[in-house]
Amino acid sequence: MAVALQAPAQNTQDAKMNTFVSNLMKRMTLEEKIGQLNLLTPGGGVATGAVVSKDVESKIRSGSVGGLFGVIGVDKIRQAQELAMNQSRLKIPLLFGSDIIHGYKTTFPIPLGLSCSWDIPLIERSARVAAKEATADGLVWAFSPMVDIARDPRWGRVAEGAGEDPYLGSEVAKAMVRGYQGRNLAADSTLLACVKHFALYGAAEGGRDYNTVDMSRLRMFEYYLPPYKAAINAGVASVMSSFNEIDGVPATGNKWLLTDLLRKQWGFKGFVVTDYTSINEMIDHGSGDLQAVSAQSLVAGVDMDMVGEGFLTTLKKSLSEGKITQKHIDDACRRILEAKYKLGLFDDPYRYTVPARATKEVLSADKRAAAREIAVRSTVLLKNNNQALPLKKSGTIALVGPLANNKSNMLGTWAVSGDPQLSIPVLEGMQKALGNSATILYAKGANITDDTAFAKKVNVFGVRADVDSLSPDALINQAVQVANRADVVVAVVGEASEMSGEAASRSDINIPQSQRNLLEALYKTGKPVVLVIMSGRPLTLERESEMATSILHVWFQGHEAGNAIADVLFGAYNPSGKLTMSFPRNVGQIPIYYNYKRTGRPQPAGPTQKFRSNYLDVSNDPLYPFGYGLSYTTFSYGNIQLSKNQMRAAEKITATVTVTNTGNYDGEEVVQLYIYDQVASVTQPVKKLKGFQKVMIPKGQSKQVSFTIGAEELKFYNSALQWVAEPGDFKVYIGTSSDNVKEASFKLVR
Ligand code: BGC
Repeated sequence: MAVALQAPAQNTQDAKMNTFVSNLMKRMTLEEKIGQLNLLTPGGGVATGAVVSKDVESKIRSGSVGGLFGVIGVDKIRQAQELAMNQSRLKIPLLFGSDIIHGYKTTFPIPLGLSCSWDIPLIERSARVAAKEATADGLVWAFSPMVDIARDPRWGRVAEGAGEDPYLGSEVAKAMVRGYQGRNLAADSTLLACVKHFALYGAAEGGRDYNTVDMSRLRMFEYYLPPYKAAINAGVASVMSSFNEIDGVPATGNKWLLTDLLRKQWGFKGFVVTDYTSINEMIDHGSGDLQAVSAQSLVAGVDMDMVGEGFLTTLKKSLSEGKITQKHIDDACRRILEAKYKLGLFDDPYRYTVPARATKEVLSADKRAAAREIAVRSTVLLKNNNQALPLKKSGTIALVGPLANNKSNMLGTWAVSGDPQLSIPVLEGMQKALGNSATILYAKGANITDDTAFAKKVNVFGVRADVDSLSPDALINQAVQVANRADVVVAVVGEASEMSGEAASRSDINIPQSQRNLLEALYKTGKPVVLVIMSGRPLTLERESEMATSILHVWFQGHEAGNAIADVLFGAYNPSGKLTMSFPRNVGQIPIYYNYKRTGRPQPAGPTQKFRSNYLDVSNDPLYPFGYGLSYTTFSYGNIQLSKNQMRAAEKITATVTVTNTGNYDGEEVVQLYIYDQVASVTQPVKKLKGFQKVMIPKGQSKQVSFTIGAEELKFYNSALQWVAEPGDFKVYIGTSSDNVKEASFKLVR
């Protein structure tokens, strides 16, 4: 009944929108229609390509601009909107977009860290808070979520995504879209989300950014496409095409991708924007000149051209030469106008530019509080010998490392609107937590890197890695001296924020040598060493994991980093994060992921065997697997109880485990469900995540956790790319990590 009542209302709204847009389009010239397809950046923000738009004001006046990005602040946005409203012929409001990736001005943990919370309501809330803050400052469009699955930590942009798993990635994608867009785009605190980078951008060969991608359709559909599709199903308003090619055709000019799959198969109704100059870059891919690649992209299904102005400068000619049709232009223009209509911009173009709202919302105290809460939950405890953590609030603590008293690196990559100077350094967070109850002795101990040429490359957006006036040896000596006077050493080490992110691939994913030298010296002191590691990607930590007493992986936590890290170090919060990307032992193991195929010669448990799939010099397993993360307490899992051992496709099985908190602290556990299809027409990976629940269990207590397994959880893409469940034997795994599970079996029967 509710549905029946709702549908006509939706239809009436759509009909109203269609009439409005049609009437407007009747008044538009060809040039004005093409103008709507043009997204510019006036500079001043962070440019990620070589080009920054010129003559933006005169283009706005002539109706040659559909939207802008890189304009920050409510006053500037209002001015630009006034230009469009007062000086362009048709007074069509502009869209204002930005890379709101992990928070807007108030900065949250990088997305990879956020995903390690496995806390879907929390992730949704992070997007909600960001939308509230950004819309108050004039923005209506977030270039997020980035949902590119990645199995290669050399790729710097793993920092922006949710890791390696399609199921978790899909849950995160949906949560982000819900958070940004809410239920109603016309509300003044919601904005358009943009799922990116469509598609397969995370599979760049060798982990080198912008590199070629090539993969089978099976791999695409099973592992790489699900998060984009989940975002579409959640109603995402826009899609950004990626820089890479797919099946030999650049994504931006790929009709199969942008029309056949996205619109026809998946039913996407919003608009497609290119990535930064990705139409122009098709020239370098080898797809033709600017006119040819612009026409190809429009016909493929692109609606808006980011920065490159290929549409603006060539589409008219292509139309006159019959290379594109009027309908191609009209369809694209309509989609852009529809987005503006849905945001309510035609009712009131200034509804998002109310200075009083900006003053109230931007960087407000409640947003900082949310940032702290979100940050603690993204922390992953990798090791904790002898329960060295949480630290006691007494005695003497040596705090060392180049990231221990640092503001410039706390935000992580892609915090284009975040001011690093508003960050809380770890030293400050710890001092506040301790008051006078313990003594902190601080020493920097090392530069982030001693390699000045390398440092220069990561200092493009401001100094992130400086080189101290003291020599590396002198820095280490200072640190050793404070360590010798302390009961415990906390070393805050890792990457500079711009060592990950766009165009920040690394072939060596160790902690830089300067800091490894510091750590060796600290270990020699014989004091317990607690590592707090910041990075935008999984690192190779074999040596560190041998020597450290405890390891907290904190990613980049945003403005509240120092407070959040202190909360976890001293036990105000018991860590509950779990890895969403495998940590390899060395780069030779890459690509590495938990949902691998068995092969015909699987390496059995135990020592490596000749003529089995393995390496001579390293084991197959990662150092820390997907789903792994410790707590200050311990959890034990009972056996899996299945409601039955056999099911038909229309039926469901319930799998239940009892999880007991056997340690000394209350704690949250992420209970993970995996499925293995033992025999299938297409070989199946050893495990696929199909469910998870984050539960709080007080110490000494138990909780029953149940999962429902239906045919949907058993499906895979067969050779005809149909999504099917085949009868046969299945294994169910439930546990604390992808490599630590209980198991049970059942059959799917006809
Ligand atoms: C990135 C996108 C980003 C765009 C706009 C590009 O270089 O790949 O993720 O949204 O720039 O800043």
